[in-house]
Amino acid sequence: MPHTTAAHRRRASRPLPLVAVGALVAAAVALPQLTPDAFAATTLRGYADGRGVRIGAAVGDSPLRSDSAYTTALDREFNSVTAENAMKWDAVEPSRGGFDWAAADRLVAHASAHGQGVRGHTLAWYAQLPSWLKNGNFSASELNTILKSHIDTEVGRYKGKVYAWDVVNETFNEDGSMRGSLWQDKLGTGYIANALRWAHAADPAAKLYINDYNIEADNAKSDALYALAKQLLADGVPLHGIGFQSHFVVGQVPSTMKANLKRFSDLGLEVSVTELDIRIPLPASSDELAQQSADYKTASENCLGVARCAGITVWGVSDKYSWIPGTFSGYGAALPYNESYAAKPAYTGLSNGLDPTA
Ligand code: XIL
Repeated sequence: MPHTTAAHRRRASRPLPLVAVGALVAAAVALPQLTPDAFAATTLRGYADGRGVRIGAAVGDSPLRSDSAYTTALDREFNSVTAENAMKWDAVEPSRGGFDWAAADRLVAHASAHGQGVRGHTLAWYAQLPSWLKNGNFSASELNTILKSHIDTEVGRYKGKVYAWDVVNETFNEDGSMRGSLWQDKLGTGYIANALRWAHAADPAAKLYINDYNIEADNAKSDALYALAKQLLADGVPLHGIGFQSHFVVGQVPSTMKANLKRFSDLGLEVSVTELDIRIPLPASSDELAQQSADYKTASENCLGVARCAGITVWGVSDKYSWIPGTFSGYGAALPYNESYAAKPAYTGLSNGLDPTA
C-alpha cells in the first residue's frame, strides 16, 4: 500500500501535539488486543497485499504441525503457501490409486484459516515418484492413463482452493534439450500439453505453470522454454504462467533476469518467482549477509518490475528447515529468517523489494 506507507512517513515526521500523544497512549492502553495485523503494511504480506501480489513460502508438514514460532512467522509474513513436499506424487499416491491427502489437506486448511492462497506443487516431475510408478514398467498408454488420473484426482480435489499449479516441473537440460524422465522418455514432449489440458479441465480457474530452475537468466535453457511456451500458446494449450525457481548463490542473481522474465510476460504469460533462496558458503560472514540482502531486493524487484509478475515465493521461512545444507554441501543460511526466527538482513532486502517506496 504505497500511499498509506508514504502517508505514515509524512505523519511520523511531524511532531504530535501533547494532547494527541496522551490520547494515543490511552488508546494503546485501552486496546491490548492490538496485533501485528494492525501494522500489516510493515510485514511482507502487508506490502504484497498492497500491490496485489503474492508473497509465499514453501511449508514443510513437520514444522507446520509442531513449531509455533514457525507458524507465527509464516502467518504474519506470507499471503501464499506452497507444499514443500506434501503434494508431490510420492506423498499423495504412495500406491496406485491409493491416495493419502493428510499432509496436503492440513496445509490447505491452514492456508484457508490464515487468509493464504495455495500454490500447488507439483504434478508431472521426474523426481519424488513412488516406486510402484518408477519401477512399474508401464506401457505408454498405461502411463498416459496413470498421469491423467493422477492429475484429475489431485487437481479435482483442490479445485477452487489452489490458485496456481506447477503442472510440469524441471523438463529441460541445461543445454535446452528435453530432460530424460519417465514422462519424456515414454510419452514424448506431448505429455506437457496433455498434462496442462487435463489440469485445466479439472480446475478451469487455476493458473497453470511450467516451473524450472536455471531459467532466470537469458540462456540456452530459458531459450528452449521460451520456444516451447510460444508453441503451446500458438496451439491453444492452457498454459498461463512460468515459474522461475530462483535457487541462487549469494552475489549471483543473473544480470539478465528482469529482461528474461519480461520476454515471457510479453507473451501474455504470468511470471512468478517460485522457490527463491540465496545460499551462502558456511559460515556466512556479515559481508555475505549484506550481499544476500541486496540480492533478495534485486531478485524480487526483477519480478515485480515486470508487468505480469504474480508474486514471489521463498523456499522456506527460516534457515532451521531449509533444504540447502542437505543438498548443497557446505552451503546454508539461504532464507530471510535465521534458525531462531530472527529476521536477517535478507528479510529487510526482501521487504524493501516489496515496498514500492523503498
Ligand atoms: C525439495 C524439498 O525442499 C526437499 O525437502 C525434498 O527433499 C526435495 O525437494 N526444486 C523443486 C522442489 O521443484 O520441489 C525441490 O524441493 C527443490 C528443487
